[in-house]
Amino acid sequence: MIGVGIIGFGTVGSGTVKILQEGGTLIRKRTGLDIRLVKIADIDLTRKRDVDVDSHLLTNDPFEVIGNLDVHILVELIGGIEPAYQYICEAIKRGKWVVTANKALLAEKGMEIFRLAREKNCEIGFEASVCGGIPVIKAIRDGLIGNRINRILGILNGTSNYILTRMEEEEISFDEALEEAKRYGFAERDPSLDVDGLDAAHKLSILIMMAFHYGLNTRDIMTRGIRRVELMDIKFARELGYRIKLLALAKLIDSEIEARVEPVMLPLSHPLSSVKGVYNAVFIIGDRTGPNLYYGIGAGSEPTGSAVVSDIVDMAMRMKIGKGNARIPVFFDEVRGIKNADESFAPFYVRFLAEDRPGVLSKISGILASYNISISSVIQKGRREGGFVPIVMLTHEAKEGSLRKAKDEIDRLPFVKEESLYLRIEEGDS
Ligand code: HSE
Repeated sequence: MIGVGIIGFGTVGSGTVKILQEGGTLIRKRTGLDIRLVKIADIDLTRKRDVDVDSHLLTNDPFEVIGNLDVHILVELIGGIEPAYQYICEAIKRGKWVVTANKALLAEKGMEIFRLAREKNCEIGFEASVCGGIPVIKAIRDGLIGNRINRILGILNGTSNYILTRMEEEEISFDEALEEAKRYGFAERDPSLDVDGLDAAHKLSILIMMAFHYGLNTRDIMTRGIRRVELMDIKFARELGYRIKLLALAKLIDSEIEARVEPVMLPLSHPLSSVKGVYNAVFIIGDRTGPNLYYGIGAGSEPTGSAVVSDIVDMAMRMKIGKGNARIPVFFDEVRGIKNADESFAPFYVRFLAEDRPGVLSKISGILASYNISISSVIQKGRREGGFVPIVMLTHEAKEGSLRKAKDEIDRLPFVKEESLYLRIEEGDS
């Protein structure tokens, strides 16, 4: 018998329990494993859940799970850094293998957790931490083991993708779409983690760890969220043959990693352009396989529970064979560091809101030229006497740092209203 203890009986906890209960027979038939729920802890045991469990399995005290000798696999599903970190470390010190969906914790404290896990020969399963139901960690760790991965592109945050999709399809504002996302319940408790890009950056740092064997600090990922994307940008993008997506991107270039999370313009023909709503997708380019695309639901009770269960079964299987082989991420010294985002080159979409009067366009293009930025096309729509109109420029390849400086200088011009928006145009890899 392999005993499972869970701390955190919320959305993902309920999904996990449901799958273990309803799918237990199927798992047993497939694997021959006898996996049993031993204890479940949550601070609120009165909350209504869509799964029933024997009351003797439930407790308010997480240490009844951590200290239980029949618990071989501890599942942490409370999220956040503390006390989750403390619970996981305690469990490892007692020789338990751990499954977690906690991307923020792994992004912030992953190195410490893995060090301890290595010392104690305990495994940490974290399939559920990235893209819910999509088995992307296993794809990188097992399926692509014979490949060097050069590049990862992903839509890793369902909430942002939902907002951008709704803005485009319903022609509603960012705020209206965010309210909808909150109502449906897939946004984080603090939705700024979603819309400001940090949730996707946490997930990207975990993918980078698996693909490039490098433990990077989430702060090293150039991160911009979707808050400043307006309906007019979405419409301009469409007109120009693009769709705006919050894209997480990691590239290995000359032993340096370029890592960014930001809204970009993706050609409509790019496979990631058609990923809509709460769906996630990860595009991985291996040197042997070429491009691989993984697509599915990135959040929610049962999709994420499915990822938790896959780690549990995987661990239980290897415990049955013999516990000598805990798999812990490995880190190499092949990567020299993180590339400075300002040094990278791309074509850009830039949108200004400026007064519609003679000389405005030439002043703006003059500043861009002074930073060596060449314009490939200009759109100016509408005419509002004494009002502000959007001016959209597409540039040829330009250095990001120069573009940002030029934009900041343009934003200080008296006839430019509010901060302008710039987005990279991601052409390749489709
Ligand atoms: N809030 C996350 C998202 C779900 O919107 O993708 C869990 O990772």
